[in-house]
Amino acid sequence: MLNHDKQTNSIKSLSMDFDELEKKDAKDILSWSMKKFSPKIAFASSFGAEDVVVIDLMVQIDKKNTRIFTLDTGRLNPETYEVMDRIQKKYQIPIETLFPDHLEVEKMVYENGINLMYQSVSNRKLCCEIRKVHPLKRILGTLDAWVTGLRRDQTFTRANTKKIEIDSSNNDIVKINPLADWTNDMVWDYIKQNGLPYNKLHDAGYPSIGCAPCTRAILSGDDLRSGRWWWENDLHKECGLHWTKK
Ligand code: ADX
Ligand code: SF4
Repeated sequence: MLNHDKQTNSIKSLSMDFDELEKKDAKDILSWSMKKFSPKIAFASSFGAEDVVVIDLMVQIDKKNTRIFTLDTGRLNPETYEVMDRIQKKYQIPIETLFPDHLEVEKMVYENGINLMYQSVSNRKLCCEIRKVHPLKRILGTLDAWVTGLRRDQTFTRANTKKIEIDSSNNDIVKINPLADWTNDMVWDYIKQNGLPYNKLHDAGYPSIGCAPCTRAILSGDDLRSGRWWWENDLHKECGLHWTKK
C-alpha cells in the first residue's frame, strides 16, 4: 500500500481536469479511467440495477481489464447470489469476493447476537463496519482508483456526487462514479434495451438492495431508499462505504 505522501504526490501528478471530465458521458469516463489506472482500478459491485449497467459498460470497453469486487457480508439475499452467478456466467469474468474477518464477526455476534442491528444505531453501524467497511478498506488499500454505481438522485446525501472525485476517506485514491448524473429511468432503460441480468428483488418492490435483514420492499411512491434500515429515523442512512471525510 502506498504511504500517504506518495499517494498525495501521485494524485498531484495525475493532473486531471475535473471540470472537463465532468462533461464526459459514462462510457467515456470509464474508458478514460480504465486506461489511466488499470490494473489498479476495480468496480465495487453489489449487483444492484446500477451495478449491472456499469459491468456491461466496462466489459464493452475492455473486458481484460474489467476488475469487479463485491463485499459479501454473509447476510446477503439468495437473489443477490443468483444474479452474481448469472453475471459471472454471461461475461465469463472473475468476481473478487471479499469476506469479513471471521474473528471480528465471531466476537461481534458472541457479544451482541446475530441480529444486533435492530438493537441500536451503534450496533447497526458496528455490523456494517465489520461486515462491509473493513473488507472495503482492505481492497482499496491495494488500488489507485475505485468505481461505484452511485447516482446523485438516489438520496440527498449523494446529491453532490461528482463523476470523478478524490476519496479523502480512503488515502486520497480516485473514486469514479460514472452514473452520477443518470436517473433511475435511464438505468432501467439500459437494462431492458440490452437484456441485462438483474436482481429479481427489483421486481418485488426493492429498488435499493443491501443485506437481507436490513432491506425490505417499499410501496410505490415511497422514497427509493426507504426500505434500507427502515426502522431507523435518521435520514442520513449510509453504511459507511460512501462517507467522505470533510
Ligand atoms: S450502501 O452504501 O447504501 O450500501 P448502495 O446499496 O446504495 O450503497 O450502493 C451504492 C454503490 O455502493 C453500489 O453501486 C456499489 O458500487 C457500492 N456497493 C454497495 N454495496 C456493495 C457491496 N456489498 N459490495 C460492493 N460494492 C457495494
Ligand atoms: Fe450488518 Fe445490516 Fe449493515 Fe449488512 S446492512 S452489514 S446485515 S447492519
